[in-house]
Amino acid sequence: MKMKIAVLSGDGIGPEVTKESVKVLQSIADAFGHDFQFKEALVGAIAIDQTGNPLPEETLVLCKNSDAVLFGAIGDPKYDNNPDAKVRPEQGLLKLRKELGLFANIRPITAYDSLLEKSPLKKEIIQGTDMVIYRELTGGIYFGEKQLNEEGTVASDLCEYAQYEIERIAHLAFKAAQQRRKKVTLVDKANVLETSRLWRRVVTSLAKEYPDVTLDFLFVDNAAMQMILNPSQFDVILTENMFGDIISDEGSVIGGSIGLLASASVGKGTALFEPIHGSYPQATGKNIANPVASILSAAMLLEQFSLHEEARLIYKAVETMLNENIGTIDLNKDNPSSTSEIGDVIVKLIDSQDVTIGG
Ligand code: IPM
Ligand code: MN
Repeated sequence: MKMKIAVLSGDGIGPEVTKESVKVLQSIADAFGHDFQFKEALVGAIAIDQTGNPLPEETLVLCKNSDAVLFGAIGDPKYDNNPDAKVRPEQGLLKLRKELGLFANIRPITAYDSLLEKSPLKKEIIQGTDMVIYRELTGGIYFGEKQLNEEGTVASDLCEYAQYEIERIAHLAFKAAQQRRKKVTLVDKANVLETSRLWRRVVTSLAKEYPDVTLDFLFVDNAAMQMILNPSQFDVILTENMFGDIISDEGSVIGGSIGLLASASVGKGTALFEPIHGSYPQATGKNIANPVASILSAAMLLEQFSLHEEARLIYKAVETMLNENIGTIDLNKDNPSSTSEIGDVIVKLIDSQDVTIGG
């Protein structure tokens, strides 16, 4: 298979972890006789530094003309600590999601058996956790009108949702549930927010098309508690943009490290694959960041193109590696591997599997 992959590695540890997932994808291409063409482009703070724009036109055009986008991370403390900055790295990612019409962000959370001891949560609680968050990605408070009065004393962010925005992601969530344990939990704040009540009405009505799937509801505050009290109760969580952002970071605690969580953003245009972690500026250039989230995002990329056997090989390699207690410092304090060593281990494990060329 021939595939054009835009590589937007971005800021902080982005380039280091993305380098490893490109390495892994290349090894998959070699093993299966695929032709993956990688093209790099600027995004985020580095793009602002070099062009003044967090999403240069050239980058957007490349993404639109590619089959997939492999994304690293964006963000830089010099913007985080400056609320007055007009141009921010995050605008690059948000605009890219919007321009590509990536309305659904899919974030799987699994408790690997070999890592049960690594989580700050008790083993008995997290054992058996296997959920996936469907986070709406191009609407809600992130994209509503923003205002600040002239005196700079009153600010507002509008949270708006239209029925069609809810329907299109809800369909994806129900279809995913049909392939899994057939349960969708809608997370909202319907006791307070009008948008949440619209979500409930729309999702309840659409659920009739999926009689084999059970639908239940949780207020987001309760959901935040349930996620760490009893995470194995969840199958597919469906939620709006900001709630999904927050609970997915919370969910990363279950797996033992945020450095393991991958995501796929899909919708109308070129799909984008990125780790859910940020740019982790403190670790930049140190070769210590965990590249597994990026590598698993690459596996999700392969799945998107129905290269299931290829993706399975990556999942298996990651699992074998974790079973052998090989990990970066977030997972193995006593004997940490470096970012690039992890990539090498995965490639080696992939190469050691018996793969039929062109299979
Ligand atoms: C994420 C990130 C982004 C978000 C930021 C960087 C804009 O936190 O992908 O979860 O809030 O969506
Ligand atoms: Mn986030």
